[in-house]
Order: sequence, then C-alpha cells, then structure tokens
Amino acid sequence: MAQLHVIDQAGNAHTLDTVEGWRVMELLREQKVGLEGQCGGACLCATCHVIVAPEWADRLPPPREEELEKLDELPVLEPTSRLSCQILWSDGLDGLTLTLPEPV
Ligand code: FES
Repeated sequence: MAQLHVIDQAGNAHTLDTVEGWRVMELLREQKVGLEGQCGGACLCATCHVIVAPEWADRLPPPREEELEKLDELPVLEPTSRLSCQILWSDGLDGLTLTLPEPV
C-alpha cells in the first residue's frame, strides 16, 4: 500500500495508510495526526494547511486559483505550502512527505 509520511506539530513522524481517490486532508484527519479540515474540503477554512517536502513540491498538481487565494490569507506561509484538501491521493504519490505547520 502506498504510504504518506507526516511530521506533526510536535515534530513526531507518522507513516499513514492511504486510500486512492481520498483527499490528503481526509487521510490526515481520519488518522488523527492533528489536522482539523474544518470545512470538509470546500477550500474555505485553510485549517488543512500543510508544508510539502521541497523535493515533492513540483511532483504535485499545481494549486488552482481558489487554493492560492485561500493560502494568501494565512498569517504564515512557506514556499511549499498547500491546502491538503486540494490534493487528491493517488498511489503515484507513494512516499509523499508533509509537515503540519506550527500553530499560530
Ligand atoms: S479543509 Fe477547509 S480549506 Fe481545506
């Protein structure tokens, strides 16, 4: 099974099981690593903010305008910041590594 690697807000590493076609936000929320995903994936809340490992940033589909606008509203943004509800999991992403941003 393809795996997703996550560093949580306390700096702990997790390796998560994945489901093809799920949003990355759903995988993170379901496996309780400390991600909220308040709006359920409607691109309205930005509580699903993640920082993608730099080596993965160009391997993901680029963000749509709607995602970029929502990211812009965050107080702290990294160059590889993404909204995890806008990334659909496929097994081609096996090994994707994300970090959850520190609370602001
Ligand atoms: S879950 Fe709300 S913007 Fe992603």
